[in-house]
Amino acid sequence: METEGSILKLNNIEVRYHEVILVLKGVSIDVPHGGIVALLGANGAGKSTTLKAISGLLKHEDGVVTDGSIEFMGERIDRQEAEEIAKRGIFQIIEGRRVFEHLTVEENLVVGAHLRSAGKKERLEMVYHYFPRLKQVRNIVAGFVSGGEQQMTVIGRAMMAQPKLMLLDEPSMGLAPMLIKEIFDIITMLNQKEKIPILLVEQNVKLALTVAPHAYVLENGRIVMDDTSEKLKENPDIRDFYLGLTDVGGRKSFRDVKHYKRRKRWLT
Ligand SMILES: Nc1ncnc2c1ncn2[C@@H]1O[C@H](COP(=O)(O)OP(=O)(O)OP(=O)(O)O)[C@@H](O)[C@H]1O
Ligand SMILES: [Mg+2]
Repeated sequence: METEGSILKLNNIEVRYHEVILVLKGVSIDVPHGGIVALLGANGAGKSTTLKAISGLLKHEDGVVTDGSIEFMGERIDRQEAEEIAKRGIFQIIEGRRVFEHLTVEENLVVGAHLRSAGKKERLEMVYHYFPRLKQVRNIVAGFVSGGEQQMTVIGRAMMAQPKLMLLDEPSMGLAPMLIKEIFDIITMLNQKEKIPILLVEQNVKLALTVAPHAYVLENGRIVMDDTSEKLKENPDIRDFYLGLTDVGGRKSFRDVKHYKRRKRWLT
């Protein structure tokens, strides 16, 4: 059954790798039609695992959704193969912007349309409309364009497939601030104009909370918080640990910060 307003629903999912390594524990996430939702968390929290559980890529790493369910447009997809899930319109931009290095930028884009027969030319024009930089470098071998242009190529490739949902895994990773801003502006525009729903994984929390109106915080495989970005920006623990706005956070975990604060209150 499709929950009103949600295109994607994760219901209490549990994920294990190699049958024994329990990584996600009862994770529930909703992505509304046409919305952007951010998934935040420290290294190793399980963010990429969550995206792979949705796209089905988990199976290629001997990972399985062992409990709960994932519904996309009202249908269960957690038992389906990655290819079937991609055909339904879910595209994951994996960490580390993997372009086909020996193909040109344009060839990289065209590859993205292999699941859709019609309208290749129009879609290519649309991608160039959103990413004018890619038009300039379209005949250059993708291995030689800049990191930002590679990231744009990867997002553009997903656009070629007319996605119904995009899963973005740390699109800002390793890019200069100017480029990050450019890419996030485009992502926002894609969402607003093309109405593509996005689940965004980001370590750049400040940026993520600006782009996404709603966010979930994952720690150690559990959702420890979920709220509007407005509220999260004001939350003292988020400010400490993720936004680094006080000197409490540092390398401690989100939980440690909470405990620290409790202890501090108790001591004073
Ligand atoms: N193929 C795998 N086999 C076994 N364990 C894995 C596998 N992939 C990930 N893990 C473990 O699952 C946990 C979550 O990893 P995941 O990559 O989902 O985290 P993440 O939040 O994306 O982290 P990062 O911010 O570093 O990308 C980690 O402890 C990791 O070691
Ligand atoms: Mg990751």
